[in-house]
Amino acid sequence: MIPVTISIINQKGGVGKTTTAVNLATALAAIGKKVLVIDLDPQGNATTGFGMSKGNGLDSSYGVLLGLTEAEQVIKKTYVNGLFLVPSTIDLSAAEVELFSLPDRDSKLRKAIANLKYEYIFIDCPPGFGFININALNASNKIIIPLQCEFYALEGLAQLFNTIQGVRNTINNNLVVAGIVLTMYDRRNSLSAIIANDVRSHFKNLVFNTVIPRNVRISEASSHGKPVILHDMKSQGSISYIELAREFLSRESQNE
Ligand SMILES: Nc1ncnc2c1ncn2[C@@H]1O[C@H](COP(=O)(O)OP(=O)(O)O)[C@@H](O)[C@H]1O
Ligand SMILES: [Mg+2]
Repeated sequence: MIPVTISIINQKGGVGKTTTAVNLATALAAIGKKVLVIDLDPQGNATTGFGMSKGNGLDSSYGVLLGLTEAEQVIKKTYVNGLFLVPSTIDLSAAEVELFSLPDRDSKLRKAIANLKYEYIFIDCPPGFGFININALNASNKIIIPLQCEFYALEGLAQLFNTIQGVRNTINNNLVVAGIVLTMYDRRNSLSAIIANDVRSHFKNLVFNTVIPRNVRISEASSHGKPVILHDMKSQGSISYIELAREFLSRESQNE
């Protein structure tokens, strides 16, 4: 079983990366896939988003990333059937500096997770363009970019695509962008529609048809330590993430 490893990335904070990682992973687990989420953000929002405790020092994604802990030792079972987690810790914030002095600083994570047996591995990336994210991109074969439907959405996207291209040219030529997902779409706000049109005219088919609406159930769920799909299955937030999972899978099978 060679996993499909997907970095959920955008250098901006607060655009829906963690929400997308948690809920897409949950939706895939719910249809019987074996899924791992690696929380690679020192803030640990994916960890608490599953109601799990943060890791302790090396007993976390920090230890795995630096190659000091075997991934198998820190993988935790979540209460979602088939869904497992490598929890984060605030110590991960030191990893950026620690990686810098290592000769293999770009490929630590790739090596650390090379033998894991999952169908899908989601990496919830921190904001920015540091070594943690280079490791995530190097360890992945796919990327999903959440894009918040707000005025500055497109700003910085060129830089993200440059970084992705740089990684592709140098260390990981298998990397493909699976898609851009529009998040926090507000249909009462005409700006959302304008931004969505703008993004679609720029990026065409790269943009998922599924749009994630702004939905209070989603933010409520994360504060309860639950994926929205388990918090309120009938909410628009849940329906849209299940639909995104379906679209992700159908695009995958088209590309085979
Ligand atoms: N579709 C949505 N509707 C309402 N709130 C959302 C939605 N997506 C994310 N949020 C909330 O917005 C905040 C930022 O989302 P998050 O996924 O943590 O972003 P990131 O990981 O990119 O920093 C969180 O409080 C989250 O609960
Ligand atoms: Mg996050």
